[in-house]
Amino acid sequence: MKDLAFRRHRRLRQSASIRNMVRETHLHTEDFIYPIFVIEGDNIKNEIKSMPNVYQWSLDLIDVEVAEAVDLGIQSIILFGVPSEKDDVGTSAHHDQGIVQKAIRQIKANHPELTVIADTCLCQFTDHGHCGVIEDGKILNDPSLDLLAKTAISQAEAGADIIAPSNMMDGFVAAIRHGLDEAGFQEVPIMSYAVKYSSAFYGPFRDAAHSSPKFGDRKTYQMDPANRLEAIREAESDIEEGADFLIVKPALSYLDIIREVKDFSGYPVVAYNVSGEYSMIKAASQNGWINEKETVLEKLTSMKRAGADIILSYHAKDAARWLQETK
Ligand code: PBG
Repeated sequence: MKDLAFRRHRRLRQSASIRNMVRETHLHTEDFIYPIFVIEGDNIKNEIKSMPNVYQWSLDLIDVEVAEAVDLGIQSIILFGVPSEKDDVGTSAHHDQGIVQKAIRQIKANHPELTVIADTCLCQFTDHGHCGVIEDGKILNDPSLDLLAKTAISQAEAGADIIAPSNMMDGFVAAIRHGLDEAGFQEVPIMSYAVKYSSAFYGPFRDAAHSSPKFGDRKTYQMDPANRLEAIREAESDIEEGADFLIVKPALSYLDIIREVKDFSGYPVVAYNVSGEYSMIKAASQNGWINEKETVLEKLTSMKRAGADIILSYHAKDAARWLQETK
């Protein structure tokens, strides 16, 4: 034993206070963006079957949910709309009285200090469930851009603090930046879903947002999970086109991509901890197979360690509560 040479890493792990002293990554409630589903109608608080404790809210009830998030110290939310009317070009996405536009106005009136982010996409608003305009079964790129820009402008007019386009058409950041600038919204930032994979982990979200494609899949516009270099190209073009934040989505199976996008870009990177990632933990913890609090805090920490500055997560309220408890 005497002659063995080795380093004693355990010295820095011997007590909670020393571990706290040398901890490299910290979660803060300010890191979180909390997603909220808003639906047309009255007196609706619908739990999403595949996402326990996540609800669709009608606007007469939404203030309770928003106030709870604010009281927990959450500083920003992202809104997903579930409209009552859909058509082939997603008209209700850019309607002045659309569900998202109404929600933004109401929430900003009650919580002016809260950062309200609008998800900008067409799939919840089109009757075919695709994120762009369709012709002969094909998703057309350029005709979809005008609709997206229109949607972003109407969200900014309603008072959205940040526009988050998620539809993965080429040029969507350029089109939206141009549209916002022309309409006088030069100061409204774009949080682009720059790196968005075609992922099976979105399944529960599509239950929540009623946005499943009615035919085919999203593989001609969302990315192949096998690709890494393509993620860099996607992020690069969004930066060139004027994105202010870069989202990587999903998060958990793509921590390597988060690290890479952060290192090469130096931009604020958002990890989108998607619906399926939430549901898996919920299901396992409801079965008593894992400890929910510990697994959630561990996985959120891993996203920051991977390079994310911000985490968009359905766990945000729970995590905020747990962080308060452990303070
Ligand atoms: C809409 C959109 C989706 C998600 C966010 N915005 C679904 C999709 O692309 O099919 C998924 C979010 C989640 O799973 O939590 N384009």
